[in-house]
Amino acid sequence: MESCIDEILITEEEIQNRVRSLADQINRDYQGKEIRVVGILRGAFIFMSDLVRNIQVPVSVDFMAISSYQEGMESCGIVRILKDLDKPITRQHVLVVEDIVDTGLTLQHLKEVLATRDPASLKVCSLLNKGERRQVMDLKVDYVGFEIPNRFVVGYGLDFAERYRNYPFLFVLKPEYYRNGG
Ligand code: PRP
Repeated sequence: MESCIDEILITEEEIQNRVRSLADQINRDYQGKEIRVVGILRGAFIFMSDLVRNIQVPVSVDFMAISSYQEGMESCGIVRILKDLDKPITRQHVLVVEDIVDTGLTLQHLKEVLATRDPASLKVCSLLNKGERRQVMDLKVDYVGFEIPNRFVVGYGLDFAERYRNYPFLFVLKPEYYRNGG
């Protein structure tokens, strides 16, 4: 079978080690507290499931779905809530879990929306950060797994045309795979 992998950017072992150390830091920071972990569908679902399994303070989970990319690979700045939280977050310590912060437009909007709901605290944990693509300059991402260069990465929850989310590592697709629409 022909491989679609151009280059593995972050291996499964590197991801798992980093997830454990992020969780250690979160365990220390939230000692004595309870966390409402909010996963942003769909890209964060794999990272979130590994992360929460390493968190030792009490957690509950909820999910939101947001549309930020219209078609293809570019963010267009239009952010819509497709699925809202099931439970209120009033007086909860909310930790938003994202797969990637790119331009920052999605997260900026999301933080504004969640801040109006009176959480006790609001922090963000993103597996990946593409700092060089940022359009929102003063956006705080409290926990970052990996800083990555401006390349289109898939795997470990991240997709191209809904494919490749199931790979346990992060990789760059061969160019012919996005030219042909996945
Ligand atoms: C990705 C990611 C963030 C957003 C980041 O979601 O999960 O929500 O894009 O981009 P930004 O910083 O430029 O706003 P995507 O729309 O690809 O959906 P998915 O999670 O369902 O794959």
